[in-house]
Amino acid sequence: MKVVEDQLFVIIGASGDLTARKLIPALFALYVRKLLPEHFAVLGVSRTAHTTEHYRQSLRKALEGIPEGRAGGDRLDGFMKLIYYLPLETSDPQCYGDLGKRLAELGEQYQTSGNCIFYLATPPVLFGRVAGNLHTAGLTRHPSGWRRIIVEKPFGYDLQSARSINRQLLDCFPEDQIYRIDHYLGKETVQNIMVTRFSNGIFEPLWNRNYVNHVEITSAENLGVENRGGYYDGSGALRDMLQNHLLQLMAMVAMEPPTRISANAIRNETLKVLQSVRPLRLPEVEKQVIRGQYTGSSYRGKQYISYRQEKGVRADSHTETYVAVKLFIDNWRWGQVPFYIRTGKRLPARVTEIVVHFRPTPHKLFCFDEGRFNADNQLVIRIQPDEGLLLKLGMKVPGAGFNVQDVNLDFHYADLVREPLPEAYQRLIVDCMQGDATLFTRGDAIEQSWDIVDPILRAWADNPDIPLHGYPAGTWGPAQADSLIEGESYTWRYPCRNLVDDGLYCEL
Ligand code: BG6
Repeated sequence: MKVVEDQLFVIIGASGDLTARKLIPALFALYVRKLLPEHFAVLGVSRTAHTTEHYRQSLRKALEGIPEGRAGGDRLDGFMKLIYYLPLETSDPQCYGDLGKRLAELGEQYQTSGNCIFYLATPPVLFGRVAGNLHTAGLTRHPSGWRRIIVEKPFGYDLQSARSINRQLLDCFPEDQIYRIDHYLGKETVQNIMVTRFSNGIFEPLWNRNYVNHVEITSAENLGVENRGGYYDGSGALRDMLQNHLLQLMAMVAMEPPTRISANAIRNETLKVLQSVRPLRLPEVEKQVIRGQYTGSSYRGKQYISYRQEKGVRADSHTETYVAVKLFIDNWRWGQVPFYIRTGKRLPARVTEIVVHFRPTPHKLFCFDEGRFNADNQLVIRIQPDEGLLLKLGMKVPGAGFNVQDVNLDFHYADLVREPLPEAYQRLIVDCMQGDATLFTRGDAIEQSWDIVDPILRAWADNPDIPLHGYPAGTWGPAQADSLIEGESYTWRYPCRNLVDDGLYCEL
């Protein structure tokens, strides 16, 4: 394992939700697992006028809400001592002298050799300004240490804004100091896509247009927009999930083997996949993209409000809470193989998975139980929950004749490790601390993903008559999405919480 050098971790925008919900719990979990460097401290910076003491108290409360926090009195006390706070007007360049001074003091006190990560937990409109202020104040470099910056999605609003954010960041930091988080890449099961493909000889020969009929990628959520209506209404499912997390999953499934496991080798291959996606023009958007919005419903005695009734959402909103697309990757491996990708809120289950459908046998010898001839073999890569792998095969039903039945060969991560899989942020933060950018998205890939999505956004904006289908909360989205799938015998898989179950009915 690479060494984690001594360092300071500075969170800019530290009084927000992300810090309390994700960053501090991840840092605390790393502290408990003894993965933080020996000399280490956290400095929270934001406009709110906290004192360090008060800030520690507010974070302690957040940590007491998580299992590790509830268990650890002494550990919690020890961790709290590493946290400091500096009130600062983050958009005002004049204030960055104070930040420089505080960094020097803490650096001295903790002997962190000038090493420092700046985590921007601010809205993306501030990325450029904050990076610029750090740069002008001379904080992006240090004579004896390194400086890195982490930014979070949403990374822009469209191709143009993503380019502009990239330019602003690159004016202040070289690419190898910039870490762009897509938290899906921090999930163990997402990393396992590469391991499954490239450490097993049996998959790779089949992993192409000759043997794969189509690929499905689903990320379903049973929750609605919760308290994020204001943000979500300006974003929608396409920008919120598909442009980033789901295109990254597709790139992992479709990439060529990298020359080695290194940040650039892997990122070069995923970029090539994104570059090969067949561009969508208006006619393709009309045929290959289905959008929907959830309507109110009652399900098992519980009432669910419609999206338009959610807090922060416009009463006449046309924002999609569901999107399904059919994409083609025009290269030698994947020519003419459809990739179906869908995501939505208020669907029947919280499930993210990839299903690789293999072509059926060329000659249909046997009859399946339900009178069907042959079914496709499917490899299901389950990202969450019940993380694991499932292979669907046809087997003989015992007894007379040659009736065949679908059976499951399944592996569950829970059988491999007892503890729950580490949270994505833990892995990503440690990687950045070690200077390993493998699981972070490079600027060119982000722009390329926007390039895929931009024509859809434009088509919707310019053609309001492209339908936005309503779907009752708790259903699998608009029925029209079924018509995307080519071939009469194919439909989406309707997954349940348990990997091996599928079917139309799951609990909301
Ligand atoms: C975030 C989106 O990036 O990912 C959310 O903004 C979404 O809307 C979340 O709920 C899903 O992440 P996960 O890890 O729960 O699948």
